[in-house]
Amino acid sequence: MNKIHLGAVSDFNDGEAKGFDINNVGADTFFVVRKGNEMFAYVDICPHYNDTSLPWKRHMYLDNQSQHIVCAAHGALFDIEDGYCLQGPCLGQTLRKVPIEVSADNDIWIRLTTIEEFNL
Ligand code: FES
Repeated sequence: MNKIHLGAVSDFNDGEAKGFDINNVGADTFFVVRKGNEMFAYVDICPHYNDTSLPWKRHMYLDNQSQHIVCAAHGALFDIEDGYCLQGPCLGQTLRKVPIEVSADNDIWIRLTTIEEFNL
């Protein structure tokens, strides 16, 4: 198997995010967000400092309305679909998008080569 199963789309409510620590390093290295029936994934590093993870608490990647990804450190807001910073100290920068795959039966997968490439 050249990929890892991250769960099913139905494991996420619309507007829900989850962090993943697939190498058991003790901290999530990337996260997946559901918006409608689409899934998006990003490296859990804020472009403001390039070494800071976003959530104040595990899986808390979104603002109260689940409209944007938020960095708890200084309040930057990011577009869920493209990771672009819309407001905050890293305005105009983007989160690093991680390619994931959703199969026809709505399972979510990440390739081992992606894990290696993104150092997840
Ligand atoms: S570290 Fe994310 S907004 Fe400052």
